[in-house]
Amino acid sequence: MRFVHISDIHSSVMPRSAGPWFDKRALGALNHLLRRKRHVRMEYLARAVTRIRSLAPDWVVITGDLTSIGSPDEFDLVLESLRPLREGPAAIPCIFVPGNHDAYVRNPAADAALRKAFGLLNGGRWEMDALPVEIEFPCLSVFVLDECRPTLPWLSTGRLTPAACGQFQAWASRSRRENEKRLLIGHYPCRLADGRRIDWRRRLEDDRLIQAAFDARQIDAALCGHCHTPFLRAESGGAMEICAGALTVHGRINVLDFSPLTGRFSQCWEDVSGNGHALIPIGAVTAAPG
Ligand SMILES: [Fe+2]
Ligand SMILES: [Fe+2]
Repeated sequence: MRFVHISDIHSSVMPRSAGPWFDKRALGALNHLLRRKRHVRMEYLARAVTRIRSLAPDWVVITGDLTSIGSPDEFDLVLESLRPLREGPAAIPCIFVPGNHDAYVRNPAADAALRKAFGLLNGGRWEMDALPVEIEFPCLSVFVLDECRPTLPWLSTGRLTPAACGQFQAWASRSRRENEKRLLIGHYPCRLADGRRIDWRRRLEDDRLIQAAFDARQIDAALCGHCHTPFLRAESGGAMEICAGALTVHGRINVLDFSPLTGRFSQCWEDVSGNGHALIPIGAVTAAPG
């Protein structure tokens, strides 16, 4: 079973009305204009869509930050680019979780746009308010978290609701079914690539909860984004946390295969940052959790 994972597309459209220039979105728009814009290559997204189809995944996983300031225009832009994955007879099912930039401010139009994107990308399989959800596959349990709520202008933190914390702990601490492996999907990495904690302005506030589950060997693999440089971090117990990074900056696609027969995950990166003709796998790492 194959998961193809991308993250942090960060589409950007300058606000056309005055409202966004009087709240956090002004900072986000200026940040994009002054810092991020020169690194973002939206053509990587078009290449990735083509490449994803050729990889024939069972599921596409998108771990948030579709947008820069969570505006309806930005969601529309990225949804249009992703349309070939979700339409037609060869539509690929998708698991999408919001990123902090998708839930940027408390604004009815922005909230409606996020919910519309959530519904379209997830194919109506679950409502956003129903997260976290657990998806059962043969020998694999997938737990999908929504970690993002609007925050203060100087923060890009995430947090879980108390109910979500409880559901996560119940999932992680439950006795495993026979040969069951566990995959966690959320926006935030639990740790940086080198194992350090993410700084207080940018991390998931409940990261210690997730690290405790890693430490107890209750999770075998985790897919995330948020950090813009892709990485694969191996836990001492064999679990791996894979951050796909910003697709439109680094052009990386994370390909994670799971074999129900062996209970093993194997992972490799695809690179779409080349000239568009030579789409060459750039390396492979295999891991055999637990
Ligand atoms: Fe991001
Ligand atoms: Fe983020």
